[in-house]
Amino acid sequence: MDSFVIRGGVPLRGTVEISGAKNAALPILCVSMLAEGVHFFRNVPRLNDIDTTIDLVRHMGAEVEGTAPVLKVSTASIDRFDAPYELVKKMRASVLVLGPLLARFGEARVSLPGGCAIGARPIDQHLKGLEALGAEIRIEHGFVLARAKRLRGAEIVFDLQTVGGTENLMMAAVLAEGRTTMLNCAKEPEIEELARVLNKMGANVQGAGTDTIHIEGVRELRPVDHAIIPDRIEAGPYMAAAAATGGDVLLHNCRLDHLESVAAKIAQAGAEVSAEGQGVRVRGKPPFRACDVTTLPYPGFPTDMQAQFMVLMCLAAGESVVTETVFENRFMHVPELCRMGADVEIRGRAAVVRGVPRLSGAQVMCSDLRASAALVIAGLVAEGETRLARVYHIDRGYEDVIAKLAGLGGHVQRVKGEA
Ligand code: UD1
Repeated sequence: MDSFVIRGGVPLRGTVEISGAKNAALPILCVSMLAEGVHFFRNVPRLNDIDTTIDLVRHMGAEVEGTAPVLKVSTASIDRFDAPYELVKKMRASVLVLGPLLARFGEARVSLPGGCAIGARPIDQHLKGLEALGAEIRIEHGFVLARAKRLRGAEIVFDLQTVGGTENLMMAAVLAEGRTTMLNCAKEPEIEELARVLNKMGANVQGAGTDTIHIEGVRELRPVDHAIIPDRIEAGPYMAAAAATGGDVLLHNCRLDHLESVAAKIAQAGAEVSAEGQGVRVRGKPPFRACDVTTLPYPGFPTDMQAQFMVLMCLAAGESVVTETVFENRFMHVPELCRMGADVEIRGRAAVVRGVPRLSGAQVMCSDLRASAALVIAGLVAEGETRLARVYHIDRGYEDVIAKLAGLGGHVQRVKGEA
């Protein structure tokens, strides 16, 4: 297991290129299974989660050629309809094959994801929706077994906004017979992007990006050639790091319209955020102001940015309250930040952060993808050296982080094995 050694205290300056969106690419690679033929996907990020998704579609029998950012996926030879435990346990988003497999082949056998570090993360809404579309669902030996001759359009009301659930059901409903209406849908940009791809393939999806999505089922879809949108969740940490280090960073290939709530909070904390050409510029202006933040489904403040924003609050004057409403166990970065000198107290779903003048480098450990990004930012602002263990979490979701930070003057080194 590799580690990072981070030498802190250098303001980040320069331009960083933002990669394609991981959370858009994952469902889009699964979409390839909905149509027989040769698909091209561009601006795909080079990440371990993408490799896992490639392994998954290969496992089904698809052929994948090329390397990210351009992948060619041929789906003529798909002949397996299962997602094994080994792949689903590595990456929970593997459950996204359920909808497409069921819609196109009438059957799917997908391992249950089980618990994960940031909470229970059930898939009941995915299964309830598929049942509404006429699928027969059984749970056996840790697997979801789903069958349907042809799915039928239906009205689906989500009990809560779920990104994966909305995506899985969109991918199922596009080939269903008749009209599907989905209410209380998630509204993330990745969902709009999925609808764009499905419509390019010949589907009829209306309303994605709002809470009501209408889908008119079609008999068949055609292969697609598509370039994936920039990753707002990769951009967020660079924005927070630029602010926290008192730097000046231009994020190239980055959409401010997908980052409004993050930009607003970073600006409220005292940084300057502006759209510039094809990107976003962030100038850190310490001292920072304490401000409260509550995570919410899009367009609210993203849970995936909660940990990183907390680092900025650790350095702000006064007390701020960071409230997590999306996942129940997403404060695992807090004890690690406290080891670096932060003053944070967890009270149920809220963390009370009292600003300190500085953080100091320490030996800390990554617990999940987004907490890891926060610890990298903390290392970049801290005095002295931070040793960050278990960085395989970072490799899942942030492309070339060391090279990108080096381009901004940040000192991060990868060490083989534990630091
Ligand atoms: C996606 C993102 C992840 C992000 C999350 C919330 C991908 C690959 N991952 O995850 O980065 O943090 O959205 O923005 O896109 N829930 C249920 N039942 C269900 C489904 C979800 O109770 O059937 C709950 C979850 O436990 C969680 C909440 O709904 O508390 C939101 O989860 P969801 O939006 O589904 O997250 P993911 O799609 O897993």
